[in-house]
Amino acid sequence: MTLRLAVFASGHGSNLLALHDAIQDGRIPGAELALVVCDHPAAPVVSKVRERKLPIFVFNSKDFPGKADYEQTIHEQLTENGIGLIVLAGYLRLIGPTLLKPWEGRIINLHPSLLPKFPGKDAIKQAWKAGVSATGVTVHFVDSGIDSGPVIAQEQVWRKADDTLETLSERIHQTEHRLLPEVVRALVARGPLRVWEKIRF
Ligand code: GRF
Repeated sequence: MTLRLAVFASGHGSNLLALHDAIQDGRIPGAELALVVCDHPAAPVVSKVRERKLPIFVFNSKDFPGKADYEQTIHEQLTENGIGLIVLAGYLRLIGPTLLKPWEGRIINLHPSLLPKFPGKDAIKQAWKAGVSATGVTVHFVDSGIDSGPVIAQEQVWRKADDTLETLSERIHQTEHRLLPEVVRALVARGPLRVWEKIRF
């Protein structure tokens, strides 16, 4: 049976493309990228997804009375498309109760720090400014908090003596592009997803 994935993205979509590449290359057997959800009609990810002819639902929150309303519409899209796992890859909104209640345990998020350190926006810059010797990448289940759900997998990225914020960011993104497909592969291979379990690589 194929697990149908939905990927939510708001910006560049490099992680979405890395995940799609992994599926296309056969690195994630049993998975299909069945829907992209984007909350930003002008985001670069929209044209990239259209180029690849993937199904996309783009919305503008201003067209809805409130968060519960657009989340209800997303929920309907997910249900109609038979989605089994939601991957937040640079989706810049907190998931509210309308989506979380029916999907909790089946939503994962990618974050560019070693959580619980540096949650929220600009995590790479936060770590850089704090002068840490290592930071990294986390994939975790989504709960109602900001980057606070149970961790599935983490990978450390060392800060090198000659790093700039840009070179460190580049290595973190490369790590994300590898780790996220690995986690999805492991979750798909494990079957039922309502299990919160740390994956060891
Ligand atoms: C990634 O660094 C991800 O960890 C964070 O947002 C960024 C998205 O990048 N949540 P992209 O849109 O996948 O290129």
